[in-house]
Amino acid sequence: MREIEPFTIAWEEETGSIVYIDQTLLPGRCEVVRCTTVEELARAIRRLEVRGAPALGVAGAMGVALAATRSTEENLERFRVEVGRAADLLRSTRPTAVNLAWGIDRVVRKVAMAVSVEEAKALSIAEANIVAEEDELTCRRLGAFGEDLFPVDCTALTHCNAGALACRCWGTALGVIRSAVAAGKNVRVIACETRPLNQGSRLTCWELARDGIDVTLIPDSSAAYLMRKGMIDLVIVGADRITKDAVFNKIGTYMHAVTARHHGIPFYVAAPASTFDTARTEEEITVEERDRDELAYCGECQLAPDGVAVLNHAFDATPLDLVDAIITEIGVLRPPYAESFRLVGKRENL
Ligand code: MRU
Repeated sequence: MREIEPFTIAWEEETGSIVYIDQTLLPGRCEVVRCTTVEELARAIRRLEVRGAPALGVAGAMGVALAATRSTEENLERFRVEVGRAADLLRSTRPTAVNLAWGIDRVVRKVAMAVSVEEAKALSIAEANIVAEEDELTCRRLGAFGEDLFPVDCTALTHCNAGALACRCWGTALGVIRSAVAAGKNVRVIACETRPLNQGSRLTCWELARDGIDVTLIPDSSAAYLMRKGMIDLVIVGADRITKDAVFNKIGTYMHAVTARHHGIPFYVAAPASTFDTARTEEEITVEERDRDELAYCGECQLAPDGVAVLNHAFDATPLDLVDAIITEIGVLRPPYAESFRLVGKRENL
């Protein structure tokens, strides 16, 4: 399998397939996998082989391009129906991260615009590649805006993985950290393990250590203690969806926001405009609930007695009044968010 780094996911022109780093194998193995059907991609997304909001946007866009280019249907109307079914399948895989549906819709719109099947196929690949390329530019712009918020010497706590692996490359929260380090700042990162799937220990630690960025792993439960001891200067996380009133991100994010506010530590969110969904409120969003076994087992090892109920929410919602700033590719948004969200209002629908 070919090297795709520095990218997490790419369209392979020669085979007309999607290639991506299978994140379930990290940190033990960094393997690139080729995906040739929408069903395979849907399964990969459910298993979190591809994960992280911006990377899901790229995967969704490429998934629709895959459905379009692999279709043998010659009738334009029937072709559109077939692509629409593939889009629905992909959309159903993960309900909380808005970028998935956003990436899917960008390519579906191109298919709807085309006047022939041939044109629809060509437009779908072109648009999926644009979504991917834009993601890198977006992360780098966002990183440049965000690094201004970092003191020259600081310790930043982060939760889950909002890094290169969660995007096409560079990252959102970790992109800001990378930009701060590139600007010569001395940044130490505290990575929360992020139970139960350990995106923090497996992925954040892996990618930061590889880049030579100072990273220390902690159990999720020690964040409050480190804040009280004065060992954290700021918290920075990514987002899966930003509504009118809340930031949805990996379960545990809300607890860090409450604790940071209690200790007077700034709490920052880094996310592209495509993650904003400001026409909706927290109450309208479906929070993904995942399998019992993710908590009740660790591989073969049983961690909870049979029959005990498990509640495994993948995400939580942090009210905006706990968020000191939201770093986007358009600039740094500050409260009152009702005002500053107008800036992204137009771009989120692109
Ligand atoms: O369940 P995951 O691993 O897809 O959750 C990912 C997160 O919660 C990330 O923090 C979020 O997508 C931001 S990615 C730049």
